[in-house]
This record gives sequence, C-alpha cells and structure tokens, in this order.
Amino acid sequence: MSLDNLFDPKLYREVRKPLSAASTLPGWCYTDPAFFAREVDKIFRGCWHFVGREDEIPECGDYLTFDGIPGSVIVMRSQSGEINAFQNACRHRGTRLLSGSGSCRQVVCPYHSWVYACDGALLRAPGMDCAIDFDVKNYSLSPVTLSSWAGFLFVRFSDDGPSLQEWLGNMPSFFKDYEPADLKCVRRVSFDVGANWKFLMENALETYHTGTVHRETLGRQQSEPVATEGHWSCLRVFVAGKQTLSVLSEQEGALPVNPYIPRERTTSTYFTNIYPCTQFVFAPDSMWWLAVRPQSVNQSRLEVGSCFTEDVISRDDFEEKVQAYFERWDTATPEDNAICEAQQSGSHTASFAQGRFGQEEVLVHALANWMLDQILKGEPQVPQE
Ligand code: FES
Ligand SMILES: [Fe+2]
Repeated sequence: MSLDNLFDPKLYREVRKPLSAASTLPGWCYTDPAFFAREVDKIFRGCWHFVGREDEIPECGDYLTFDGIPGSVIVMRSQSGEINAFQNACRHRGTRLLSGSGSCRQVVCPYHSWVYACDGALLRAPGMDCAIDFDVKNYSLSPVTLSSWAGFLFVRFSDDGPSLQEWLGNMPSFFKDYEPADLKCVRRVSFDVGANWKFLMENALETYHTGTVHRETLGRQQSEPVATEGHWSCLRVFVAGKQTLSVLSEQEGALPVNPYIPRERTTSTYFTNIYPCTQFVFAPDSMWWLAVRPQSVNQSRLEVGSCFTEDVISRDDFEEKVQAYFERWDTATPEDNAICEAQQSGSHTASFAQGRFGQEEVLVHALANWMLDQILKGEPQVPQE
C-alpha cells in the first residue's frame, strides 16, 4: 500500500471522531520523513519553543542554547541585564558559535575569530580591512523572537502568529498561586531518545501506562483532564492517600508543600502540554519541565529541568532531600523513554495500522487533533459523518 497524498484529510477521518469512537494516528505519522517535514513547516517554524529559565542565566554573558528544529538559538544576558536571543550562526560564513550552556565575556567565532558582544553586536572582524563598504554595525548576530512568562523563556523562529501570552491562554492564571516567578532551576539533564516527538509527549499525557511501565516504581496513578483555554492541555494526576508524586516514597522525607496553593491542589500534580512539545509539571512541592527537541522523524532529545522556590532551596536539608526527587525523575524518565523507543520500532513495522483510544487518553487524542489542525490547514475539509 502506498499513499498518493499523505495530507489528504480523508486519511485522518477516524482520528477526528470523538474519543470513544476515534482511532489513533496511523503509524506513518511517526515514521514518514515527508510527514515530519510538514510538521516542521506548519508547526515548528511558527510555534513557541521553551528554552529554559531566566534564573539559569543570572549574569552578563551567561547563556543557554536551544538545539531543535528548525535551528539553533543562543539566549544570552547582555551587559545591560536584558536577555536576547540570536541565531547560533556567525555572520561571516555561518559557523555555529556556542553549545550547551555557560558564560563568556564575548562570543568569539571558532573559525576566523570574529568577536561579538553579549548583546549580539559585532565588535571586531579581523582581516576585513579591504572589504568595500563593510561596516561591523551591519553584521550583528541575527535576532530571534524571544518572550517570557514568570521567568520561563521561549523563542520563536517567525515574527508572526499569536504572542506567548495568547499561546498560553489561561495557563498563567491557573498556576499563579505556585509563585512561578520565584522558581529556580536547580538541575537539567538530557536524554537522546530514538522516538518521534509525539510518542514522548503522548506518554506524558496519560496515566493509563503507569501501572505497567512504572509498575515497580511510580505505580498506578489516576488522572482527569482539566479544561483549558489556549494552546495547552492539562491533566490532574493523583494517587489516593499520597500527597506528592515527585518522590518514589514519601517515607524518604519530602520537601514541604507550597503554602500558597489552595488546599484542594495539595494532593494533585498537574501535567501540562504546551503545544507542541513542552511540558510543565506543577506539583505541590516542586515543579519540573520536559522539553522535547525533535531531531528527525525518529529521533528526539529530551531535556528535563527541576525547579523549586527560593524558600525551599534555602532550607538546610534541601541538598539532602532533593536527592529523592532526582531519583524519581532519573528512574521514571528512562522507563518512559524505553517504551517510546519500543513504540517507534513497532510503528515502522506497522506503519499503516491504527489502534483505538482508551478513556484515559483524552489528551493524547487532543494532541493528535491539534497536530492535524496545524498540518492540514488549508486542505479541503472532510465533513464528519
Ligand atoms: S565563520 Fe565565523 S569568523 Fe569566519
Ligand atoms: Fe510515564
């Protein structure tokens, strides 16, 4: 079987049905390079990408890099304290300038030593004396759109489209009691995963798998979707009799619950999906984020950050107690990554197959339909039966 037009809306009719009647996305959505190219064009070029937190780059010259599709970006604090974003490419002949995160007084290109200030201005370009009409003022690093909410930094490769505030909709008001602006990211780790970005996101949007994949670790969790406005979805996750889900065992001595959150939130953990591929998790005692960086149709980088409020970080027992949180993330994440790789493998084998959704997969269905809304924009619509 081969397809003439991978973007014929009729092919996705079964996914568009209400959850209890809907089929899952066909396997090719996770395996076909042409499908991935369409996602890059229709989603990743125009969406907001989460990079990291402002508190990770407190001083002039501190930087983070974003490595994803459709390119690499430097996010750096300037001499005046402002944070800017630039394409991670030298204005001479395009060499990548920085990797990972760190701090530097100036950005020096590793090829011919052009030197940029922390605000992206080109300061020196040695050996360019004979170039006619060459003025360093015209060769600053190319800016990339940057926006933030409560210290969370996002970049976008296009100038057009909804603002970050419009994209996030009611998320800031939903989480205002968690003091998100006071969070500090105390650790980030990354994983290379041989799976399509959607498998990683879907995994984080349902608790149906927890009793199987995390049988020996997290155990079975319960969940219910929360109504949202904007380009995000939200799952309330809970386990009867347990307060925090951020440590494997509460006996290990969890850190205190945020005193400002309403009582009914103290036994719930909210898993979100900021479309397309960022997850912010707000727990009663901690916050963590997952950022999926698609690399190709079957390869992704997953970055995981751990955040706590300043009050908690300054406790004498923080260093000791935070180890239990790291253990939880370092245990559950590889379990999820391994199952996503198994799913990727199966989808190559059965690339035309479609399954069915269970009742706990509301947000997996929602992500599939959000993705289809984006990639089928402009295609003739198929009336639903
Ligand atoms: S490519 Fe950067 S200085 Fe030549
Ligand atoms: Fe999981």
